[in-house]
Amino acid sequence: MSHHLLSLLKYVGGDYNDLVTFKALKQTLGDAQRPAHYLAIPPALFAKVIKGLGSSGLADQARVIVEKPFGRDLASARELNRIAQSVFPEDSIFRIDHYLGKEAIMNILYFRFANSFLEPIWNRNHVASVQITLAEGFGVKGRGTFYESAGCLRDVIQNHLFQIVALLAMEPPAYQGFGAVHSEKAKVFQAMRPLQQDDVVRGQYTGYRKEPGVAKDSDVETFCALRLFIDSWRWQGVPWYLRSGKCLAATAAEVLVELKPPPQRLFDDSAPADGRANYLRFRLSPNAAVALAVRVKRAGKEFVGDQRELSLLDEQPNEETPYERLLGDAMAGDGALFTREDAVEAAWAVVNPVLETHHPAHSYKPGSWGPKQADALIAADGIWHNPRSVVA
Ligand code: BG6
Repeated sequence: MSHHLLSLLKYVGGDYNDLVTFKALKQTLGDAQRPAHYLAIPPALFAKVIKGLGSSGLADQARVIVEKPFGRDLASARELNRIAQSVFPEDSIFRIDHYLGKEAIMNILYFRFANSFLEPIWNRNHVASVQITLAEGFGVKGRGTFYESAGCLRDVIQNHLFQIVALLAMEPPAYQGFGAVHSEKAKVFQAMRPLQQDDVVRGQYTGYRKEPGVAKDSDVETFCALRLFIDSWRWQGVPWYLRSGKCLAATAAEVLVELKPPPQRLFDDSAPADGRANYLRFRLSPNAAVALAVRVKRAGKEFVGDQRELSLLDEQPNEETPYERLLGDAMAGDGALFTREDAVEAAWAVVNPVLETHHPAHSYKPGSWGPKQADALIAADGIWHNPRSVVA
């Protein structure tokens, strides 16, 4: 950090329950123009601090950046939106989802709408299913207390994975501008069928209950797999399979858009008998890649071939970390890569039924791909694609 920046830093300590804290903050901010209040604090305090900012005059001409999770179900998200909007105008509220600041995820939007060849196949006529896996090879890393109040569905699926679904599933925005993107994404969440308990497989790695801060009889899921439907003209009937977990066999995130097989099996080795039909693979983490898999014939007398990946994008280093990008955008007042009130609430409405009513978590071995029940969930449409940790 440069000496100049360091010399500008000031520290104000205090209790969020005490108005004196906010007064001290106001005094320290002096005549600062357009302050951005970044709430990287326990989520239970978001509402209290936003109200405190409002009542001490700290919200005037200011912006607020709210960390995730924004609410813990539909009712609490609505309430938090109501409070935030009673203090700040919507265009001054920045709900962070750091996945939206990742290069590979921004590329999904670009790839879909900067090319025209995709559009004819990007629908229920050609897409058989979509899978998204966010796998982590490590546990809760000392965040047991937080994790106990969240679980995998709230921690990464309702936000990070749903945002990826929205970018993959949305209709083309009607004009150039982030308002149009926000509207199309919100429509995807609104078209999602609310989840029912049989759509979800929950898992917990053995050893989780021994983590600090975790209840000895915890049923909180450290793994979650689900089947989702988007009841729209474009996606009716196409299953979306989402999966994430801690202590899995790899640390990587990938999307696989699997296309339908040819209508007739003209060659003995044609897909899907030997695995998969053609697919598009978006690797999101730890590196970015886009690949299209198609079958090509092996040289020789027999009509036998292999599925080969055509690499459209290889390892691309991130110029900025997602947080550098997003905090900079929020300070500049650019809300493109943040989530809008209606989208957050619509996403909660999809998961709300299974937050309360769900089957118990199945245990799984650390280093595996989760409980076997997750394989049964996808069985009617194929098998899970397991991304590899190493650059692929
Ligand atoms: C966070 C979750 O939002 O995202 C963590 O709270 C998770 O549990 C993390 O590990 C994953 O983000 P990234 O950028 O490391 O893939």
